[in-house]
Amino acid sequence: MADDTTDTKSSNQMWGGRFASGPDAIMEEINASIGFDKKLFAQDIRGSIAHATMLAHQGIISADDKDKIVHGLNTILSEIESGNFEFSRQLEDIHMNVEARLATLIGPAAGRLHTARSRNDQVALDFRLWVKEELQKTEQMLTGLIAAFLDRAEEHAESVMPGFTHLQAAQPVTFGHHCMAYVEMFGRDRSRVRHAIEHLDESPIGAAALAGTGYPIDRHMTAKALGFREPTRNSIDTVSDRDFAIEFLSIAAIAGMHLSRLAEEIVIWSTPQFGFVRLSDAFSTGSSIMPQKKNPDAAELVRAKTGRINGSLVALLTIMKGLPLAYSKDMQEDKEQVFDAAESLELAIAAMTGMVRDMTVNTARMKAAAGSGYSTATDLADWLVREAGLPFRDAHHVTGRAVALAESKGCDLAELPLSDLQAIHPDITDKVYDVLTVEASVASRKSFGGTAPSEVRRQIAFWRARN
Ligand code: ARG
Repeated sequence: MADDTTDTKSSNQMWGGRFASGPDAIMEEINASIGFDKKLFAQDIRGSIAHATMLAHQGIISADDKDKIVHGLNTILSEIESGNFEFSRQLEDIHMNVEARLATLIGPAAGRLHTARSRNDQVALDFRLWVKEELQKTEQMLTGLIAAFLDRAEEHAESVMPGFTHLQAAQPVTFGHHCMAYVEMFGRDRSRVRHAIEHLDESPIGAAALAGTGYPIDRHMTAKALGFREPTRNSIDTVSDRDFAIEFLSIAAIAGMHLSRLAEEIVIWSTPQFGFVRLSDAFSTGSSIMPQKKNPDAAELVRAKTGRINGSLVALLTIMKGLPLAYSKDMQEDKEQVFDAAESLELAIAAMTGMVRDMTVNTARMKAAAGSGYSTATDLADWLVREAGLPFRDAHHVTGRAVALAESKGCDLAELPLSDLQAIHPDITDKVYDVLTVEASVASRKSFGGTAPSEVRRQIAFWRARN
């Protein structure tokens, strides 16, 4: 007896701190989700109004009770929106907070709202509605980012810059062409978003705890009222599925990876060594100690946000991977991951759209860099194939000697006198100088999807018609 008492006492002391009051406090802390799922209040109330309306239509509750419930729910909605709602942690989550307040407002009729449903289908509904809205927002934001790139591409369809492989100048391209590469990337992200909206467009409500219900509910009616294409087809899957959240996170992770690559390019381009772009003051900061500095902080933070988004994706995949069907409380951990990733993604797209629109492009620096590093060597080789009939391998060899000579003289290919070039290969004529400039090089790359200004304009027209 005495031993028992001592045991309880010592373990109580071990709880300590905020858990000094014992198991109840620990359970409340680990169990409550209201701290984050209150974000779902509007979806929760919308879902409950649709559910109550259907219950009355089916004769499961009276029209009178339904009117009281709907009125009460609308009152709660305005209370929350105006900040006059007291959320309680003892009531665990958004669903029970709303229901408890409804009971205070309308009395016993409130108890009829939870007929033929469970918190399992309720939370699946609320969260799906939230993710669907977030996907729609993401789609719009990506459209804005694509529009920013289209404008810059149009403005710079002719501006020559170095194209890189291995971050080594490879062949001249246009800045417009480079911008259009991002249009393709964010265009793919947007079509992934559209597919995800189609995938999740099924209403979970009415799956109840996991097995459906004996009440004569009409799930097609609630699906329609809530803007879903149709109801889900399997009640077990419905309450245990979080694919829609994982799809959102994987789309966010891929888009985040694209945004991060763009961020990295902006960081590189805005260094004094490159000097291709100058960021507006709005998206950079000065150094507190080195007055000459202008740091691309916003781009660096976009690059970093990608890490958080990836973390959220891995977290939710890991939360779900061991769960038996159907609902387990583990799934409550889904929301924070998605909310955090959504916030990061929105911020990253907004910052990048702003940076792309605002940055000053230094076309002179780009052009000078495009001409350095013998970037038109391939054009010389192609000229030898086309005009002098050399096999490409021989042309490659001749070009290599020309590059070596230019290197030893410390000049560009276009600066080598004709006599020097003819000493390397007698069939070279002064016509070769037409292809040795960077402008001629890009203008010649007219293959479909190539960097010639005419092709870049074709790509822009394609996307303008789809944006
Ligand atoms: N707060 C819970 C969640 O987010 C709601 C569902 C609770 N269901 C249950 N059977 N305990 O997952």
